Amino acid sequence: MNQKTSAPARIARDRFRRPLRSLRLSVTDRCNLRCQYCMPEAEYVWLPRKDLLSFEETEFLTERFVALGVRRVRITGGEPLIRPQLPGLVARIAAVAGVEDLALTTNGVLLAPQAAPLAEAGLHRITVSLDTLRPDRFRELTRRDDLPRVREGIRAARNAGLTPLKLDTVMIRGLNDDEVTDLFEFASAEDAEVRFIEYMDVGGATGWRPDLVFPAEAIREAMARRYGGIEPVAGQDPAAPARRYRVPDGRVFGVIASVTEPFCRTCDRSRITADGRWYRCLYAADGLDLRGPIRDGASPAEIEALIASTWGDRTDRGAEERAELDRRETLVPLTDLRADPHLEMHTRGG
Ligand code: GTP
Ligand code: 5AD
Ligand code: SF4
Repeated sequence: MNQKTSAPARIARDRFRRPLRSLRLSVTDRCNLRCQYCMPEAEYVWLPRKDLLSFEETEFLTERFVALGVRRVRITGGEPLIRPQLPGLVARIAAVAGVEDLALTTNGVLLAPQAAPLAEAGLHRITVSLDTLRPDRFRELTRRDDLPRVREGIRAARNAGLTPLKLDTVMIRGLNDDEVTDLFEFASAEDAEVRFIEYMDVGGATGWRPDLVFPAEAIREAMARRYGGIEPVAGQDPAAPARRYRVPDGRVFGVIASVTEPFCRTCDRSRITADGRWYRCLYAADGLDLRGPIRDGASPAEIEALIASTWGDRTDRGAEERAELDRRETLVPLTDLRADPHLEMHTRGG
Protein backbone atom coordinates (compact mmCIF):
# COMPACT_ATOMS: atom_id res chain seq x y z
CA MET A 1 0.00 0.00 0.00
CA ASN A 2 2.93 2.34 0.14
CA GLN A 3 3.65 2.59 -3.58
CA LYS A 4 4.32 6.21 -4.49
CA THR A 5 2.76 7.67 -7.60
CA SER A 6 5.02 9.00 -10.26
CA ALA A 7 4.05 12.54 -11.26
CA PRO A 8 3.28 14.05 -13.73
CA ALA A 9 0.19 12.02 -14.34
CA ARG A 10 -2.64 11.65 -16.84
CA ILE A 11 -5.52 13.97 -16.13
CA ALA A 12 -8.99 12.47 -15.91
CA ARG A 13 -11.72 14.57 -17.56
CA ASP A 14 -15.49 14.31 -17.25
CA ARG A 15 -18.16 14.51 -19.96
CA PHE A 16 -17.92 18.33 -19.92
CA ARG A 17 -14.11 18.17 -20.14
CA ARG A 18 -13.75 19.29 -16.52
CA PRO A 19 -10.50 17.95 -15.02
CA LEU A 20 -10.20 16.14 -11.69
CA ARG A 21 -8.00 18.56 -9.77
CA SER A 22 -9.25 19.01 -6.22
CA LEU A 23 -9.98 16.35 -3.63
CA ARG A 24 -11.75 16.94 -0.32
CA LEU A 25 -11.18 14.33 2.34
CA SER A 26 -13.68 14.20 5.17
CA VAL A 27 -11.99 12.54 8.13
CA THR A 28 -14.99 12.37 10.47
CA ASP A 29 -18.72 13.05 10.22
CA ARG A 30 -18.88 14.26 13.83
CA CYS A 31 -18.81 17.85 14.98
CA ASN A 32 -18.49 19.75 18.25
CA LEU A 33 -20.81 22.56 17.09
CA ARG A 34 -24.41 22.46 15.91
CA CYS A 35 -24.66 25.28 13.37
CA GLN A 36 -28.22 25.90 12.30
CA TYR A 37 -27.46 25.83 8.59
CA CYS A 38 -25.66 22.48 8.76
CA MET A 39 -26.74 20.47 11.83
CA PRO A 40 -30.08 21.92 12.92
CA GLU A 41 -31.56 18.69 14.31
CA ALA A 42 -31.39 17.44 17.90
CA GLU A 43 -30.11 13.97 16.99
CA TYR A 44 -28.01 12.41 14.27
CA VAL A 45 -27.15 8.96 12.98
CA TRP A 46 -23.35 8.58 12.77
CA LEU A 47 -21.20 6.51 10.45
CA PRO A 48 -20.09 3.28 12.18
CA ARG A 49 -16.52 3.65 13.44
CA LYS A 50 -15.39 0.38 11.90
CA ASP A 51 -16.23 1.83 8.49
CA LEU A 52 -13.86 4.81 8.80
CA LEU A 53 -10.90 4.73 6.46
CA SER A 54 -7.59 4.22 8.22
CA PHE A 55 -4.84 6.77 7.61
CA GLU A 56 -3.10 4.21 5.42
CA GLU A 57 -6.23 3.75 3.31
CA THR A 58 -6.71 7.51 3.01
CA GLU A 59 -3.11 7.94 1.89
CA PHE A 60 -3.50 5.12 -0.62
CA LEU A 61 -6.61 6.76 -2.08
CA THR A 62 -4.91 10.16 -2.23
CA GLU A 63 -2.10 8.60 -4.27
CA ARG A 64 -4.64 7.14 -6.71
CA PHE A 65 -6.33 10.51 -7.16
CA VAL A 66 -3.04 12.31 -7.62
CA ALA A 67 -2.19 9.83 -10.37
CA LEU A 68 -5.33 11.03 -12.17
CA GLY A 69 -4.64 14.74 -11.90
CA VAL A 70 -5.48 15.89 -8.37
CA ARG A 71 -3.11 18.60 -7.11
CA ARG A 72 -5.11 20.23 -4.32
CA VAL A 73 -6.27 18.38 -1.21
CA ARG A 74 -8.49 19.76 1.55
CA ILE A 75 -9.17 17.96 4.82
CA THR A 76 -12.72 18.50 6.10
CA GLY A 77 -15.27 17.00 8.49
CA GLY A 78 -17.67 17.22 10.28
CA GLU A 79 -15.01 18.89 12.36
CA PRO A 80 -11.68 17.36 11.32
CA LEU A 81 -9.81 18.31 14.51
CA ILE A 82 -11.97 15.79 16.39
CA ARG A 83 -10.23 12.94 14.58
CA PRO A 84 -7.54 11.55 16.90
CA GLN A 85 -3.93 11.83 15.72
CA LEU A 86 -4.79 14.08 12.78
CA PRO A 87 -1.21 15.37 12.34
CA GLY A 88 -0.25 11.76 11.53
CA LEU A 89 -2.64 11.78 8.59
CA VAL A 90 -1.51 15.25 7.50
CA ALA A 91 2.11 14.05 7.41
CA ARG A 92 1.16 11.13 5.15
CA ILE A 93 -0.84 13.29 2.72
CA ALA A 94 1.81 16.03 2.67
CA ALA A 95 4.38 13.41 1.66
CA VAL A 96 2.42 12.25 -1.41
CA ALA A 97 4.37 13.50 -4.42
CA GLY A 98 2.12 15.73 -6.52
CA VAL A 99 0.07 17.28 -3.69
CA GLU A 100 0.82 20.96 -4.28
CA ASP A 101 -1.74 22.48 -1.93
CA LEU A 102 -2.81 20.93 1.38
CA ALA A 103 -5.48 22.85 3.30
CA LEU A 104 -7.90 22.16 6.13
CA THR A 105 -11.34 23.56 6.98
CA THR A 106 -12.17 23.80 10.69
CA ASN A 107 -14.62 25.55 12.98
CA GLY A 108 -11.57 26.62 15.01
CA VAL A 109 -12.75 25.46 18.44
CA LEU A 110 -9.93 22.92 18.89
CA LEU A 111 -7.41 24.77 16.76
CA ALA A 112 -5.25 26.68 19.25
CA PRO A 113 -3.39 23.63 20.66
CA GLN A 114 -3.27 21.85 17.29
CA ALA A 115 -2.08 24.63 14.98
CA ALA A 116 1.64 24.14 15.57
CA PRO A 117 1.58 20.30 15.36
CA LEU A 118 -0.44 20.50 12.14
CA ALA A 119 2.02 22.97 10.61
CA GLU A 120 4.94 20.78 11.64
CA ALA A 121 3.23 17.77 10.04
CA GLY A 122 3.21 19.63 6.72
CA LEU A 123 -0.21 21.29 6.50
CA HIS A 124 0.04 24.40 4.31
CA ARG A 125 -2.96 26.50 5.27
CA ILE A 126 -6.23 26.71 7.18
CA THR A 127 -9.72 28.04 6.59
CA VAL A 128 -11.78 28.78 9.69
CA SER A 129 -15.58 28.86 9.56
CA LEU A 130 -16.81 31.90 11.46
CA ASP A 131 -20.27 33.35 10.98
CA THR A 132 -20.54 36.00 13.68
CA LEU A 133 -18.39 38.05 16.03
CA ARG A 134 -21.11 38.46 18.64
CA PRO A 135 -20.99 35.99 21.54
CA ASP A 136 -24.78 35.82 22.00
CA ARG A 137 -25.30 35.24 18.30
CA PHE A 138 -22.54 32.67 18.17
CA ARG A 139 -24.33 30.73 20.91
CA GLU A 140 -27.65 30.99 19.10
CA LEU A 141 -26.16 29.91 15.78
CA THR A 142 -23.89 27.08 16.96
CA ARG A 143 -25.57 26.12 20.24
CA ARG A 144 -22.19 26.24 21.97
CA ASP A 145 -20.33 29.03 23.74
CA ASP A 146 -16.99 28.76 22.00
CA LEU A 147 -16.35 32.08 20.27
CA PRO A 148 -13.28 32.92 22.44
CA ARG A 149 -11.68 29.58 21.56
CA VAL A 150 -12.31 30.16 17.86
CA ARG A 151 -10.63 33.58 18.08
CA GLU A 152 -7.66 32.00 19.85
CA GLY A 153 -7.52 29.32 17.16
CA ILE A 154 -7.37 31.91 14.39
CA ARG A 155 -4.48 33.65 16.11
CA ALA A 156 -2.65 30.36 16.68
CA ALA A 157 -3.03 29.37 13.03
CA ARG A 158 -1.49 32.64 11.89
CA ASN A 159 1.35 32.33 14.38
CA ALA A 160 2.01 28.79 13.17
CA GLY A 161 2.32 30.09 9.60
CA LEU A 162 -0.78 28.25 8.31
CA THR A 163 -1.31 30.97 5.72
CA PRO A 164 -2.89 32.41 3.62
CA LEU A 165 -5.53 32.26 6.29
CA LYS A 166 -9.18 32.39 5.21
CA LEU A 167 -12.44 32.85 7.07
CA ASP A 168 -15.64 31.31 5.69
CA THR A 169 -18.88 33.03 6.65
CA VAL A 170 -22.28 31.66 5.71
CA MET A 171 -24.62 34.63 5.41
CA ILE A 172 -28.22 34.18 6.52
CA ARG A 173 -30.73 36.95 6.04
CA GLY A 174 -31.94 38.35 9.33
CA LEU A 175 -29.33 36.42 11.27
CA ASN A 176 -25.89 37.85 10.49
CA ASP A 177 -26.36 39.98 7.36
CA ASP A 178 -25.63 43.12 9.41
CA GLU A 179 -22.07 41.89 10.12
CA VAL A 180 -20.62 41.98 6.60
CA THR A 181 -18.28 44.90 7.20
CA ASP A 182 -17.51 43.94 10.83
CA LEU A 183 -16.37 40.52 9.66
CA PHE A 184 -14.32 42.06 6.88
CA GLU A 185 -12.60 44.40 9.37
CA PHE A 186 -11.99 41.53 11.78
CA ALA A 187 -10.51 39.39 9.00
CA SER A 188 -8.16 42.09 7.79
CA ALA A 189 -6.98 42.79 11.35
CA GLU A 190 -6.15 39.07 11.58
CA ASP A 191 -4.41 39.08 8.20
CA ALA A 192 -7.08 36.77 6.82
CA GLU A 193 -9.34 36.87 3.75
CA VAL A 194 -13.05 36.57 4.48
CA ARG A 195 -15.34 34.83 2.02
CA PHE A 196 -19.08 35.37 2.31
CA ILE A 197 -21.01 32.24 1.36
CA GLU A 198 -24.64 32.05 0.32
CA TYR A 199 -26.78 29.75 2.46
CA MET A 200 -27.19 26.60 0.35
CA ASP A 201 -30.06 24.11 0.17
CA VAL A 202 -27.73 21.14 0.58
CA GLY A 203 -28.68 17.88 2.30
CA GLY A 204 -29.09 18.48 6.02
CA ALA A 205 -30.01 22.17 5.68
CA THR A 206 -33.54 21.38 6.81
CA GLY A 207 -34.24 24.97 7.82
CA TRP A 208 -33.35 26.37 4.39
CA ARG A 209 -35.81 28.72 2.70
CA PRO A 210 -35.26 30.92 -0.36
CA ASP A 211 -35.94 34.10 1.60
CA LEU A 212 -33.11 33.28 4.04
CA VAL A 213 -30.49 33.51 1.28
CA PHE A 214 -28.58 36.79 1.50
CA PRO A 215 -27.44 37.02 -2.11
CA ALA A 216 -23.97 37.83 -3.40
CA GLU A 217 -25.32 41.02 -4.93
CA ALA A 218 -26.47 42.28 -1.52
CA ILE A 219 -23.06 41.44 -0.03
CA ARG A 220 -21.27 43.39 -2.76
CA GLU A 221 -23.66 46.32 -2.22
CA ALA A 222 -23.04 46.35 1.53
CA MET A 223 -19.28 46.42 0.91
CA ALA A 224 -19.47 49.07 -1.80
CA ARG A 225 -21.71 51.28 0.35
CA ARG A 226 -19.22 51.25 3.20
CA TYR A 227 -15.93 51.41 1.27
CA GLY A 228 -16.91 53.39 -1.79
CA GLY A 229 -16.82 50.92 -4.65
CA ILE A 230 -15.39 47.44 -5.23
CA GLU A 231 -13.51 45.97 -8.20
CA PRO A 232 -13.03 42.33 -9.19
CA VAL A 233 -9.45 41.18 -8.58
CA ALA A 234 -7.63 40.55 -11.88
CA GLY A 235 -6.45 37.08 -12.89
CA GLN A 236 -8.67 34.86 -10.74
CA ASP A 237 -8.65 31.07 -10.80
CA PRO A 238 -11.73 30.17 -12.88
CA ALA A 239 -12.13 26.86 -11.00
CA ALA A 240 -12.33 28.54 -7.57
CA PRO A 241 -15.81 28.93 -6.08
CA ALA A 242 -14.96 32.35 -4.64
CA ARG A 243 -15.07 35.52 -6.76
CA ARG A 244 -12.63 37.96 -5.20
CA TYR A 245 -13.09 41.73 -4.95
CA ARG A 246 -10.90 44.61 -3.88
CA VAL A 247 -11.98 47.69 -1.93
CA PRO A 248 -10.30 51.02 -2.79
CA ASP A 249 -7.64 50.67 -0.06
CA GLY A 250 -6.50 47.39 -1.63
CA ARG A 251 -7.97 44.89 0.83
CA VAL A 252 -9.65 41.83 -0.65
CA PHE A 253 -12.73 39.75 0.18
CA GLY A 254 -14.44 36.82 -1.54
CA VAL A 255 -18.02 35.87 -2.35
CA ILE A 256 -19.14 32.27 -2.88
CA ALA A 257 -22.44 32.54 -4.69
CA SER A 258 -23.42 28.88 -4.96
CA VAL A 259 -27.14 29.72 -5.03
CA THR A 260 -27.52 32.83 -7.19
CA GLU A 261 -24.40 32.50 -9.40
CA PRO A 262 -23.52 28.77 -9.46
CA PHE A 263 -20.12 27.78 -10.76
CA CYS A 264 -20.60 24.13 -11.80
CA ARG A 265 -19.20 24.80 -15.27
CA THR A 266 -15.65 24.93 -13.94
CA CYS A 267 -16.05 22.53 -11.01
CA ASP A 268 -12.95 20.33 -10.70
CA ARG A 269 -13.61 18.97 -7.23
CA SER A 270 -14.90 15.84 -5.60
CA ARG A 271 -15.27 14.53 -2.06
CA ILE A 272 -14.57 11.38 -0.11
CA THR A 273 -16.52 10.72 3.08
CA ALA A 274 -14.78 9.41 6.20
CA ASP A 275 -16.02 5.90 5.34
CA GLY A 276 -14.68 5.99 1.80
CA ARG A 277 -17.61 6.99 -0.35
CA TRP A 278 -16.71 9.22 -3.28
CA TYR A 279 -19.08 11.99 -4.40
CA ARG A 280 -18.64 13.84 -7.65
CA CYS A 281 -20.97 16.68 -6.56
CA LEU A 282 -22.08 18.24 -3.28
CA TYR A 283 -25.68 17.73 -4.39
CA ALA A 284 -25.27 14.17 -5.77
CA ALA A 285 -27.74 11.56 -4.57
CA ASP A 286 -25.24 8.70 -4.86
CA GLY A 287 -21.56 8.13 -4.36
CA LEU A 288 -19.15 5.34 -5.24
CA ASP A 289 -17.91 3.08 -2.46
CA LEU A 290 -14.11 2.94 -2.60
CA ARG A 291 -13.60 1.31 0.80
CA GLY A 292 -15.05 -2.03 -0.33
CA PRO A 293 -12.66 -2.50 -3.27
CA ILE A 294 -9.67 -1.45 -1.13
CA ARG A 295 -10.55 -3.91 1.64
CA ASP A 296 -11.14 -6.60 -1.01
CA GLY A 297 -7.53 -6.11 -2.10
CA ALA A 298 -7.94 -4.21 -5.38
CA SER A 299 -4.61 -3.12 -6.88
CA PRO A 300 -3.62 0.56 -7.31
CA ALA A 301 -4.21 0.25 -11.07
CA GLU A 302 -7.67 -1.25 -10.54
CA ILE A 303 -8.72 1.55 -8.18
CA GLU A 304 -7.36 4.17 -10.58
CA ALA A 305 -9.31 2.62 -13.46
CA LEU A 306 -12.48 2.68 -11.36
CA ILE A 307 -11.99 6.34 -10.44
CA ALA A 308 -11.06 7.36 -14.00
CA SER A 309 -14.09 5.71 -15.59
CA THR A 310 -16.47 7.08 -12.94
CA TRP A 311 -15.10 10.61 -13.39
CA GLY A 312 -15.28 10.14 -17.15
CA ASP A 313 -19.06 9.62 -16.86
CA ARG A 314 -19.59 12.70 -14.70
CA THR A 315 -22.31 15.10 -15.81
CA ASP A 316 -23.08 16.61 -12.39
CA ARG A 317 -24.05 20.27 -12.16
CA GLY A 318 -26.03 20.15 -8.94
CA ALA A 319 -26.12 23.83 -8.02
CA GLU A 320 -27.05 24.90 -11.56
CA GLU A 321 -29.88 22.36 -11.68
CA ARG A 322 -31.20 23.62 -8.37
CA ALA A 323 -31.09 27.20 -9.69
CA GLU A 324 -33.20 26.15 -12.69
CA LEU A 325 -36.08 24.91 -10.49
CA ASP A 326 -39.26 27.00 -10.35
CA ARG A 327 -39.92 26.14 -6.74
CA ARG A 328 -37.06 25.40 -4.44
CA GLU A 329 -37.33 23.77 -1.04
CA THR A 330 -35.32 21.43 1.20
CA LEU A 331 -33.25 19.05 -0.95
CA VAL A 332 -33.56 15.92 1.20
CA PRO A 333 -36.47 15.15 3.55
CA LEU A 334 -35.60 14.39 7.17
CA THR A 335 -36.70 10.75 6.91
CA ASP A 336 -34.19 10.17 4.10
CA LEU A 337 -31.40 11.91 6.05
CA ARG A 338 -32.08 9.63 9.02
CA ALA A 339 -31.98 6.57 6.77
CA ASP A 340 -28.66 7.54 5.17
CA PRO A 341 -26.24 9.99 6.80
CA HIS A 342 -24.26 10.18 3.54
CA LEU A 343 -26.91 12.62 2.33
CA GLU A 344 -25.83 15.15 4.97
CA MET A 345 -23.53 18.07 4.13
CA HIS A 346 -21.67 17.46 7.40
CA THR A 347 -20.83 13.92 6.21
CA ARG A 348 -19.61 15.11 2.82
CA GLY A 349 -17.60 18.00 4.21
CA GLY A 350 -18.27 21.69 3.54
P1 GTP B 1 -9.68 27.76 -1.34
O1 GTP B 1 -8.89 26.80 -2.14
O2 GTP B 1 -9.03 28.09 -0.05
O3 GTP B 1 -10.08 28.99 -2.07
O4 GTP B 1 -10.99 27.00 -0.89
P2 GTP B 1 -12.29 26.79 -1.70
O5 GTP B 1 -12.50 27.92 -2.63
O6 GTP B 1 -12.31 25.42 -2.22
O7 GTP B 1 -13.39 26.98 -0.61
P3 GTP B 1 -13.71 26.17 0.69
O8 GTP B 1 -13.16 24.81 0.61
O9 GTP B 1 -13.30 26.99 1.86
O10 GTP B 1 -15.25 26.10 0.59
C1 GTP B 1 -16.01 27.16 1.02
C2 GTP B 1 -17.46 26.88 0.86
O11 GTP B 1 -17.82 26.98 -0.51
C3 GTP B 1 -17.91 25.49 1.23
O12 GTP B 1 -18.05 25.32 2.60
C4 GTP B 1 -19.21 25.44 0.51
O13 GTP B 1 -20.16 26.19 1.21
C5 GTP B 1 -18.85 26.12 -0.78
N1 GTP B 1 -18.37 25.14 -1.75
C6 GTP B 1 -17.16 24.53 -1.73
N2 GTP B 1 -17.08 23.63 -2.72
C7 GTP B 1 -18.23 23.68 -3.38
C8 GTP B 1 -18.75 22.98 -4.49
O14 GTP B 1 -18.12 22.11 -5.07
N3 GTP B 1 -19.99 23.31 -4.90
C9 GTP B 1 -20.71 24.25 -4.29
N4 GTP B 1 -21.92 24.51 -4.81
N5 GTP B 1 -20.30 24.92 -3.22
C10 GTP B 1 -19.07 24.64 -2.76
N1 5AD C 1 -24.80 26.51 3.09
C1 5AD C 1 -23.57 26.99 2.81
N2 5AD C 1 -22.45 26.50 3.34
C2 5AD C 1 -22.57 25.50 4.21
N3 5AD C 1 -21.65 24.82 4.91
C3 5AD C 1 -22.28 23.90 5.65
N4 5AD C 1 -23.60 23.95 5.45
C4 5AD C 1 -23.80 24.96 4.56
C5 5AD C 1 -24.96 25.50 3.95
N5 5AD C 1 -26.18 25.04 4.20
C6 5AD C 1 -20.22 25.08 4.80
C7 5AD C 1 -19.79 26.39 5.38
C8 5AD C 1 -19.05 26.03 6.59
C9 5AD C 1 -18.44 24.76 6.14
C10 5AD C 1 -17.93 23.87 7.20
O1 5AD C 1 -19.48 24.10 5.45
O2 5AD C 1 -18.88 27.01 4.51
O3 5AD C 1 -18.14 27.03 6.90
FE1 SF4 D 1 -21.34 22.99 12.44
FE2 SF4 D 1 -21.48 21.68 10.25
FE3 SF4 D 1 -19.90 23.70 10.50
FE4 SF4 D 1 -19.38 21.51 11.79
S1 SF4 D 1 -19.42 21.71 9.67
S2 SF4 D 1 -19.26 23.58 12.49
S3 SF4 D 1 -21.43 20.85 12.17
S4 SF4 D 1 -22.01 23.77 10.65
